[in-house]
Amino acid sequence: MAIGRAKITIVGAGFVGATAAHWAAAKELGDVVLVDIIEGLPQGKGLDLAQAGPVEDFDANIVGTNSYAETEGSDIVIITAGIARKPGMSRDDLIGINLKIVGEVTESVVKLSPDAYLIIVSNPLDAMTYAAYKKSGFPPNRVMGMAGVLDSARMATFIARELNVSVENVSAFVLGGHGDTMVPLPRFTTVAGIPITELLPKERIDAICQRTASGGAEIVSLLKTGSAYYAPGAAAVRMAEAILKDKKMILPCCVHLSGQYGVDGYFVGVPAKLGASGVEEVIEIRLDDEEKAAFAKSVDAVKELSAIVDQNL
Ligand code: NAI
Ligand code: 2OP
Repeated sequence: MAIGRAKITIVGAGFVGATAAHWAAAKELGDVVLVDIIEGLPQGKGLDLAQAGPVEDFDANIVGTNSYAETEGSDIVIITAGIARKPGMSRDDLIGINLKIVGEVTESVVKLSPDAYLIIVSNPLDAMTYAAYKKSGFPPNRVMGMAGVLDSARMATFIARELNVSVENVSAFVLGGHGDTMVPLPRFTTVAGIPITELLPKERIDAICQRTASGGAEIVSLLKTGSAYYAPGAAAVRMAEAILKDKKMILPCCVHLSGQYGVDGYFVGVPAKLGASGVEEVIEIRLDDEEKAAFAKSVDAVKELSAIVDQNL
């Protein structure tokens, strides 16, 4: 039996990438390789993070680099490379630039890490995950996108604040594409096992769902120069952890659908079981008519962007 640390490559050493590196190292999930095109940026952040090890008591070899050589044999690759949106922009406005970047990055990483699991973060998320899938030639269980963990965490935060309870009590679910049409699902959201529909009036639930759907834009409008990164970094690492520890954890993730939910050949956010084989199962839940309609609208938005990937990749 081989004993050794996992190797986690994070491409894009910007806000989300560096924060993901921080969470991964602090959790001792493995050694971390941080890649970026800006000279000195991944090296500087990598060295700084490594020097937090003796303070926070974590052992992780952290390498910052501008080349892919050091990424060879990675177990997990988290792709955060690309531009982030500014106030007034939607995630979809990023596709022109980010498609090229995610395509190039995917091509580079898979050459040296043919057995890796890819976790895509770059936006527009569902289309970029589809692009990485196409470019990598990997089987669908090894390519997934991070969005639902973040969107559900936002919803859980708002519910915990509203009810003045621990976030640990809240289990929230947001499905669909990671865009304005995402689908928060109050019927599948519980607090200590109690459906929130039993705890909050409809107008408060509607307000929380609305705030969740525009949760990314709320942070962009506050930051003014970029988008969220603490929760996105943590969410990407949660997915990596589920795979590396073979947790068999059901998380809302952007995964390949082959008929489930009536969708074939696209990447959309649904509950999926993550374990040592990556996406081990897509969980189909029965949606009511209203939820189905909202999900279908979200899938249409994903299909539109995926068509741009098909035309340009
Ligand atoms: P950032 O601008 O801080 O970092 C992006 C980094 O990518 C930069 O350092 C840049 O130099 C690097 N980069 C650009 N081209 C590259 C290439 N070819 N190879 C390697 N590195 C390259 O942006 P931030 O805030 O880290 O966001 C990154 C991406 O993640 C954005 O597209 C953003 O929209 C997305 N995002 C997605 C979320 C989600 O829920 N899926 C949540 C938050 C952000
Ligand atoms: C977010 O939801 C920008 O997609 C990113 O914060």
